[in-house]
Amino acid sequence: MPFSYPRSSTMDWGMQNRLSRIFAEGDSRCLMLAVDHGYFLGPTYRLEIPKETIQPLLPYTDSLMLTRGVLRTSVDPKTNVPIVLRVSGGSSILGEDLSNETITTSIEEALRINATCLAMSIFVGSKYEHQTLRNLSKLVDKGERYGIPILAVTAVGREMTRDYKYLGLACRIAAELGAHIVKTYYCDEFEKVVDGCPVPVIIAGGKKVSNEKDVLKLTYESISKGAAGVDMGRNIWQSDYPVAMIQAVRSVVHQGLDVNQAYEKFLSLKHENIEDVIPTSIKSTK
Ligand code: 5RP
Repeated sequence: MPFSYPRSSTMDWGMQNRLSRIFAEGDSRCLMLAVDHGYFLGPTYRLEIPKETIQPLLPYTDSLMLTRGVLRTSVDPKTNVPIVLRVSGGSSILGEDLSNETITTSIEEALRINATCLAMSIFVGSKYEHQTLRNLSKLVDKGERYGIPILAVTAVGREMTRDYKYLGLACRIAAELGAHIVKTYYCDEFEKVVDGCPVPVIIAGGKKVSNEKDVLKLTYESISKGAAGVDMGRNIWQSDYPVAMIQAVRSVVHQGLDVNQAYEKFLSLKHENIEDVIPTSIKSTK
């Protein structure tokens, strides 16, 4: 069973309400669509015009993870999709060290935006580890004050190994500092990462892989080993068939489909949607 927060009188109504908007009522799982990559990568492939990438996928996601800039410019304020607002940044791929992050967006701004959750990165084991862990602690204090949950993203430096020891360490530290949800990467013995982390763990998709079936396998194995869902980006919207892909991932997260069933679903949706999956402006950038 995935982690589900106990109904608790110590958790404020607002906090419980926001968490229940992130994790679905029936299965306590989530499909979060990540489109925050531009905050350090710039105009990422197939996210160059965020509105065109996001809009067709909105009906199929439980929540949307992005920065305030892309939210204000590229998402209709009438949307009911809960917003997971990335509030850390301050470094780019051209800079000295990606781990040199600060909190970039105030809690007042998050409230104005009506954010359901705040997301920030921690860089355990990196040069700016201490700074990013302090960022998390301070953000949790603010989130608790206003009833907004915090998603800690365990960013992994190039020199670090994505194994259960490292990821388990990073996830546990995030939870100990008060994060309400932790995002990490799938790894061998992933169940040890989940077991050592007392809050829900969700997984990133990582770099685009060539075969959609591998993404469905990653999703299936993560869920089977205790992940509460996915916070996935490139392997959905860099697919040639992003609308089919998000529905296939969704079927694993929420409908209990196995890898082969979900891949079949992907193939049949791909054929249904063959003409309208990638907006022309995005297609032409390939
Ligand atoms: C970047 C992020 C991304 O949102 C995260 O990595 C998920 O996206 P993807 O599935 O493309 O890896 O937090 O720091």
